[in-house]
Amino acid sequence: MTTEVEISLNKGAQDGFVRSEAPFPAFMGGQGSGKTAGGVIKCWMYTIANPGSRGVWTEPVAAMFQESCLPTLRSFFGEYEGSFWQEQGKGGPNHRIEFSNGCVWMLKAAETPERLVGFEVAWALMNEAGSTEHGSQEQAYLNLVGRLRQKGFRHWLGVATTPSGYNWLWREWVDSPTAKETGHLLFHGSTFENKENLPDEYIERMSQAYVEGTPMYRERVLGEFVQMSGLVIPNFDVDKHVAPWPDELFIRKIAGVDFGVQSPTAIVECAVTNSGHRYLKEWLYKRDCDDETFVKACRDAMDDGITLFVCDPSGKDRIRWMNDKGIPSVKARSNRIEARVKSWITPLSQGMLTICNESQFLIREVSGLSWAKRRGRELETDKFDVNTPDHGFDAGADALQEIEAMPIGWKVPELVEML
Ligand SMILES: Nc1ncnc2c1ncn2[C@@H]1O[C@H](COP(=O)(O)OP(=O)(O)O)[C@@H](O)[C@H]1O
Ligand SMILES: [Mg+2]
Repeated sequence: MTTEVEISLNKGAQDGFVRSEAPFPAFMGGQGSGKTAGGVIKCWMYTIANPGSRGVWTEPVAAMFQESCLPTLRSFFGEYEGSFWQEQGKGGPNHRIEFSNGCVWMLKAAETPERLVGFEVAWALMNEAGSTEHGSQEQAYLNLVGRLRQKGFRHWLGVATTPSGYNWLWREWVDSPTAKETGHLLFHGSTFENKENLPDEYIERMSQAYVEGTPMYRERVLGEFVQMSGLVIPNFDVDKHVAPWPDELFIRKIAGVDFGVQSPTAIVECAVTNSGHRYLKEWLYKRDCDDETFVKACRDAMDDGITLFVCDPSGKDRIRWMNDKGIPSVKARSNRIEARVKSWITPLSQGMLTICNESQFLIREVSGLSWAKRRGRELETDKFDVNTPDHGFDAGADALQEIEAMPIGWKVPELVEML
């Protein structure tokens, strides 16, 4: 039978990946950049052109076939389901798509690489090969390479994935000096390349969630390889730790202050709920901040219930000046770098810290703050990389340390007049 479906491939990575005849084509791109669609279309075209060929499609875990491969197959080629192709063996070890021209797509999970043996195929496609949901998929990849031996067909193994740092995919497709000669060809694309096929505002929402300029944004929207290992707060996850300001009662609200001259001055609120959950929000983040703007920001914060400003300990004169202006200020407990880092990491890892989604400067800082690099490869962990700003981070740390030192239930001490 003939099948005709009108599809126009996105220019750039998707088009290049689908049409490539390289033995190891890779489509690495942002979320929603059209990777899975590219994979399905590529496998479909090969299936039409090569009756009798067999292939294997992997997802990180078996449950993902129902969320990724199959809905995509149905959305493009659903009108041929039941005539040209059919899903078989759902939920079992022989889950597969059978085609009336004798082709088969075996659907297998990469999480059990030991099962990726004992069959012969012409091609393999690893969807989300960079996911480490159940461990690295490198072993699955190596096993699959050994399965490409169905006689009489052109062999290839493709991957379609969001990049995930400088891992095995990066080594195989980019870093390896033999990448080219072995046919490892990388097509790299951002989510923007698929804008036309995405729901309205999808990209805007992603940009808001991941915040332009952060490593997460560069990885998940732009689809770049990003070094995450030098991050000061590696456990910060925009998906988990950023949310709209809650409609909750707070038992205590204070703010941290980091003074800047050329660098920005930052004021960050820390509000604590009855259960001890901390919410952070930026009140000010401003370069060359003049006194009037600063005082106004403090007063606004006080009107909103903030009772204390915990300041960078090196700003003694500024602290005195603030108190003179009627802004209750103290110096921060510690300027030690480990204490400041810990004041962030601990509540984050306990799920007790959330940043307001409107605090874009703070989010950008916390997700990008990196340790300084020595000339060699090693990282220093006593100094931040000067290229990654830390003003909101510092202000937050001042407030978090102060909160930490005050037990829950702490109240402003009342002045008792002694008669
Ligand atoms: N060439 C195309 N034509 C029409 N729709 C497309 C095309 N490429 C991708 N899409 C659609 O865009 C959306 C995101 O694509 P998908 O392949 O799922 O992205 P990714 O796997 O990169 O996250 C899906 O709804 C998909 O069907
Ligand atoms: Mg996908």
